[in-house]
Amino acid sequence: MNFVSSAQELRSQYLSFFQAKDHAQIQGKSLFPDNDPTVLFTTAGMHPLVPYLLGEEHPAGKRLVDYQKCIRTGDIDAVGDASHLTFFEMLGNWSLGDYFKEEALGMSFEFLTGPAWLGIPVEKIGVTVFEGDATAPGDEASAEIWKKLGIPESRIRYRPREDNWWGPVGTTGPCGPDSEMFIDRGAEPCGPGCGPGCSCGKWLEIWNNVFMQYNKDAQGVYTPLARQCVDTGMGIERTLTILAGKPSVYDTEIFAPIIAAVEEAAGYRYGSDREKDGALRIISDHVRASTFILGDPKGISPGNIGAAYVLRRLIRRSVRHGRKLGITGRILAPLAQVVIDQMSGPYPELTENRAWVLGELEKEEAQFLETLQKGEHEFEKLLPKLRQDPRKIMSGRLAFKLYDTYGFPIELTEELAAEQGMTVGREEFDDAFKKHQELSRAGSEQRFKGGLVDQGLMAVKYHTATHLLHQALRIVLGDQVAQKGSNITAERMRFDFSHGAPLSAEELDRVQALVNEQIQRDLPVTMTVMSLEAAKASGAIALFGERYESQVRVYTIGDEGRGIFSKEVCGGPHVEHTGTLGVFKIQKEQSSSAGVRRIRAVLE
Ligand code: ALA
Repeated sequence: MNFVSSAQELRSQYLSFFQAKDHAQIQGKSLFPDNDPTVLFTTAGMHPLVPYLLGEEHPAGKRLVDYQKCIRTGDIDAVGDASHLTFFEMLGNWSLGDYFKEEALGMSFEFLTGPAWLGIPVEKIGVTVFEGDATAPGDEASAEIWKKLGIPESRIRYRPREDNWWGPVGTTGPCGPDSEMFIDRGAEPCGPGCGPGCSCGKWLEIWNNVFMQYNKDAQGVYTPLARQCVDTGMGIERTLTILAGKPSVYDTEIFAPIIAAVEEAAGYRYGSDREKDGALRIISDHVRASTFILGDPKGISPGNIGAAYVLRRLIRRSVRHGRKLGITGRILAPLAQVVIDQMSGPYPELTENRAWVLGELEKEEAQFLETLQKGEHEFEKLLPKLRQDPRKIMSGRLAFKLYDTYGFPIELTEELAAEQGMTVGREEFDDAFKKHQELSRAGSEQRFKGGLVDQGLMAVKYHTATHLLHQALRIVLGDQVAQKGSNITAERMRFDFSHGAPLSAEELDRVQALVNEQIQRDLPVTMTVMSLEAAKASGAIALFGERYESQVRVYTIGDEGRGIFSKEVCGGPHVEHTGTLGVFKIQKEQSSSAGVRRIRAVLE
């Protein structure tokens, strides 16, 4: 039916099709959205385009096309089924106040069914449209267009807002009714109501056309946009599943190399056991997602809040599911290497950041394996006592202690208990866990008044500001000035540096002005990975006494053309442009300890 059989072909066909229709190809963006503190990851191709959907002129024009890496964690429990993934690629075409429903749906139809394009038989296509509610009318117009294109009424379904309304991505922004395209996978209908949009598995959604017509504000009010836009998103993995006639996304060529690598590590053959297949799929998805999160130009380390915590969970889940396949050693770095080899064509940043990706995975994996070992050891110590319980129940309180003290996951405690013919008092565990969560949530809310995610974005800005301040101090006071420490919250930064005397008012003014000048110049901030020797040779500042890996990240503020202002060895993350920092104000300068001064500053 068609000749597209790989993700690469699909990407290039899509781009060519829309380029032939006067769309300019733009670069996909980072997995970490700029200027949007309400979300952790880029979840759709439209995300980086929000300002343009709201009316700003895009330098590339009114018709755009691209492919975008995305992460969605909302359905993490469904990962491993036929169609859900945490990391996926989205193809998208946009009209910024140019074409609207008729042309958008017409082009979608042509790309899906055209013999020179995907060549999907029209009989297999079904669509949904918005049925209307109190805020916006039903989308009769789209239904009529689909009919004209040849989709019979029986395969057009009207659906409510939960299904056929898209956006805003955070809490505010552009949104509107959408029309989704599904492919009939050939199974019998699950019942009389079965049709496009039904979740029984017969219909697989592969593409979505959003008609951006409203801006939702913080009060929840929808205001019509001055110009109507179109935002579409086609999932590469799902579309390829259809084109290749495979039962699931995991059976496409996209997953073949990583699945083969997990098979080899586990000595298990995919397809022999349902439960093990699930574990294998989850590892494959999570390693792909972790590789992309770490390999992003704004990549982060695993941690305990926000996106860093998502990354930690993905890595730890991979390790746990590896154990289900009998894997007890380290496997994540070699698996990530498989992803890097496969995906660095369209995503060259993966090769650029390879050493960092592999290093971070190895570190986190080793740490978690140690946790697991300790937990197992503690469990064994408890065994003699546990065996005395005639009901063969391990109390939830004890299980919680293992979790709380050693970070030992409840699922593993349950597994170990099951091996001994015991169960765990899960309710008691859940109660203790909930209480613990409430306590820590209250604690973190107090710590970060602006909310956790907010803290993340502001912290990143302050982090970039420390580099500017560090360099400004070196310019004003001399190159002997070295950073001695820094402390950042969502509200302010503190920076300690070596210097023997208080700074004069004039010196402080000059330092502050220098920092603000670099902010106003809106300098680019870029990251490269290199050996520590190469970093030092290139003039990058590395912190004295700090222990570095052999491959390090170097953050450069400025560029060849406009001059490099600062270059530092640093783990990141940083903003992409200094212009987003705001206004830098020094509030206080004081002594910190002998020979060390401390500056407290804010960004306003
Ligand atoms: N933004 C739309 C989606 O992700 C196209 O479905």
